[in-house]
Order: sequence, then C-alpha cells, then structure tokens
Amino acid sequence: MDPIIIPDEETYPSDTADRVYPPEYEGHFSRLLIKREEILSRTASLAELLHNDYRGKRPVILCVLKGSTPFYINLLEALQDLTQGYYMEYIRVKSYDGLETTGRIKVEGAVPNLEGKDVIIVEDILDTGTTLSHLIPILEEQSKASSIEVCTLLTKRISEPQKVKAKYVGFSIPSKFVIGYGLDYNELYRDIRDVWIISQKGIDCDPKSLP
Ligand code: XMP
Ligand code: MG
Repeated sequence: MDPIIIPDEETYPSDTADRVYPPEYEGHFSRLLIKREEILSRTASLAELLHNDYRGKRPVILCVLKGSTPFYINLLEALQDLTQGYYMEYIRVKSYDGLETTGRIKVEGAVPNLEGKDVIIVEDILDTGTTLSHLIPILEEQSKASSIEVCTLLTKRISEPQKVKAKYVGFSIPSKFVIGYGLDYNELYRDIRDVWIISQKGIDCDPKSLP
C-alpha cells in the first residue's frame, strides 16, 4: 500500500483550534502537517497490513527510541485489536545532531537477541536512510534475526534516493524538518499531539528559556 502523500503546499490552514501544544511553543512551528487523528487512522491500516503478512507468526516489534514511541504504542494497540501476537523490543540509536544527520549512528545500550525471529523495525521517520542502513546490518549480524522489515510512520521526499526502502510507510512528507508526536529538535517538541514543520523561532529556541 502506497503511503498517504502530504503535499508540498499547505493542505489545511491551521486555525487556532488546531494549536494544541504547550503555550511556551507559540510561534515555534510554521505549518501543521498531520493531525493525530490522521495518524491513528493510518496506523490502524498499517496494523492490518502487518496482520495479513504476519498472521500465525509472532514478530518482534522493535521500537527505535525515542522518537518512534507514540507511533509504536498506537501500532501495538492496533495489532492487539486484530489479535495479532508479537514480542516487544527496544533499541536506542542516535544519528541526528540538531538539523543535520551526522552520518554516523550509535547504538546506545545492548542489541537485543533476535535469533530466528521475524523483526519489524518501527521508525518515526525515514530521511536519507543512513540510520537504517547502519542499523539493519548490525541487527542481521549481532542479533541473528531471520527476517527484517521496516515500518515507518513518515518518509521524506528527498532528491537523492533513500539508502533503505521501507515496506510499510504511513505518510510521504515534504523534505522539511518536522517535529511532534515523538519527533524532536534537540529533545524539544516530542510532547505535541500532531506533526508540524518547525519554524526558525523553533530552531533558534534555547531550551533553557522554557519552563
Ligand atoms: P536518516 O537520514 O538516517 O534519518 O534516514 C532518520 C533519523 O533522523 C531523525 N530525523 C528527524 N527527526 N525531524 C526529526 O525530529 C525530522 O524531520 C527528521 N529527519 C530525520 C530521526 O530520528 C530518524 O530516526
Ligand atoms: Mg528516530
């Protein structure tokens, strides 16, 4: 199933009713991109796809911390509704420093033992694919998974080809830096219900100036 395309141009002008975020973030976002309600409905469709593909199996649903957490929780609940069995695992990976991908990724902590398991990596966003192009070989070699697929909430439409293809994708989004619904900019903005494009004020914000 193809991802839902979020166009480059504004889809819905955000009105004040949409501005559901801590008040100290006012002015930190430039465009409301995807509302939580759309994310939840898309997540239910992705769970159906996974259930069709993994029926009778117990895949390991692997959460890539921290950004994927809200998507992960909602995906697991949607799988529960479908009576799909699964195992839960977590991995912590760091690649971004501010707006720039560092090109290096670091697994922080232990790599889970996934020997013989069908693994579904749950990501918040696929950008260049650098993170997953490093993580997948680590999982293949160190964890001995028997199969690995990627389920990402978002994929960015970037000009160069992505280094990794995801089989399950929620939304295709413009090539902008986005935050909210677990996605952060220097650890801020994970605490927002919707996905927004960050503004210059949001980029310039000193976390120490916030409560
Ligand atoms: P790559 O380029 O490795 O990027 O595919 C994937 C990882 O980088 C982070 N990332 C973002 N985080 N807003 C974010 O908050 C973004 O627009 C963005 N783009 C990439 C993210 O952690 C992801 O796992
Ligand atoms: Mg991430």
